[in-house]
Amino acid sequence: MKRLVVYYSFSGNTRAMAKRIARALRADIAEIRTLKTYPDDLDVLLGLAKREIESGYLPQIVPLSVDASKYDVIILGTPVWWNSFTPAMKKFTSSISWKGKKVYPFSTNDKGAGHVQSDIKKS
Ligand SMILES: Cc1cc2nc3c(=O)[nH]c(=O)nc-3n(C[C@H](O)[C@H](O)[C@H](O)COP(=O)(O)O)c2cc1C
Repeated sequence: MKRLVVYYSFSGNTRAMAKRIARALRADIAEIRTLKTYPDDLDVLLGLAKREIESGYLPQIVPLSVDASKYDVIILGTPVWWNSFTPAMKKFTSSISWKGKKVYPFSTNDKGAGHVQSDIKKS
């Protein structure tokens, strides 16, 4: 079984978790990065993220450092943004074929995971 941890992280929490999980599972790891960086100002970021999530906007992402199609198990890590998963992760989940793969999503958050799991499942 080839395992891959794929994560998006804006401020580092999800990256730290993803690294620990990858180490524990002896999995490969790859970071999703957006072509355009998000603003550092939290108020601006909150507003932008809300608009992107509500409209279903998918930002352009840098090609992954690995070929995700070669893995049987993919562990997906995302921060919770507005009770959902991040547009960058959504771009990734909608860009590969999931047939025959086992997927284990996890999220980091301040208050709760919201509907991340069901949103990822739908995507
Ligand atoms: C735009 C934005 C929206 C967020 N929305 C939520 C939320 O709805 N619920 C929550 O518990 N945390 C929310 N958070 C907090 C993050 O999920 C939390 O800090 C997360 O661990 C950040 O992960 P990162 O450091 O990998 O980017 C939000 C953070 C940002 C920047």
